[in-house]
Amino acid sequence: MNYRHGYHAGNFADVVKHLALVAILLHLRKKDTAFSVVDSHAGRGAYDLSGAEAGKTGEAQGGIARLSDLSGEMPEALSTYLSLVRESGPYPGSPLIAAKLLRPQDRLTAIEKHPEEFSALEKLLAPYRNCAAEQGDGYARSLKLLPPPSRRGLVLIDPPFEAPDEFSALAQTVRDAYRKFATGIFLIWYPVKSQADADAFAGEVLAGGAAKAMTIDTRISAPEGKLARAGLLVINPPFGFADVMEQAGRLLAPRLEGEISSAWLVGAE
Ligand SMILES: C[S@@+](CC[C@H](N)C(=O)[O-])C[C@H]1O[C@@H](n2cnc3c(N)ncnc32)[C@H](O)[C@@H]1O
Repeated sequence: MNYRHGYHAGNFADVVKHLALVAILLHLRKKDTAFSVVDSHAGRGAYDLSGAEAGKTGEAQGGIARLSDLSGEMPEALSTYLSLVRESGPYPGSPLIAAKLLRPQDRLTAIEKHPEEFSALEKLLAPYRNCAAEQGDGYARSLKLLPPPSRRGLVLIDPPFEAPDEFSALAQTVRDAYRKFATGIFLIWYPVKSQADADAFAGEVLAGGAAKAMTIDTRISAPEGKLARAGLLVINPPFGFADVMEQAGRLLAPRLEGEISSAWLVGAE
């Protein structure tokens, strides 16, 4: 477990993933009924972008730093994400974004395996009474938590991709999780190093029977050996999500000097 998200926080892939997270949470908030969020690989929850780790890679400079003066008309998900970042101080990771957007009736369980990252996460979430940090394996623990009592919600799966068999462990977990919570929204992040691997992964997940799924693909130009492309697989994307991501993508892509595209894999609006 060498991966530390501090080296990558606020990079282009984080920006698009966290925008998608906000878009889904805003949708869930439209109904008064409670919802649950399970964040399987939560990280420490907040990242100092002027610290040593972020400084070493400079990745946030090609991501969130390029949005610092973005203003004007934009989808609510994008303005909400930018407000959360601007008011947060350290860059907010997925569990902090979720914690800030939950209402009193909603619940977050954030799972993190690494002891130091977990300890920081636990402290960060302590003031939020409806949020719990759990130390453990994100795949096994998420499956135990599904379906949530509320029967509405989001499962975010954002693994470190350190293990050579991460794609197959991820695909198997998503299939098992979907079987337990077929009405849930699933937001899954993965690096795209080869189109064939990404397609095989999506195929393996969809063989589990998901009736509605789409991908969002983000590419930037990056130096050799650095991540240049990342994907999001979204199962049961809420109504209007694809449009929001497309509108926001049109504003973000030129800033990131990249391309953001969406595609329906199965079902559509
Ligand atoms: C990509 S980072 C998460 C970033 C976070 N989701 C965000 O958007 O702010 C992946 C995290 O998974 C943690 N991790 C590694 N193996 C894990 C496991 N088996 N279960 C849970 N967490 C794990 C790493 O320590 C790391 O903090």
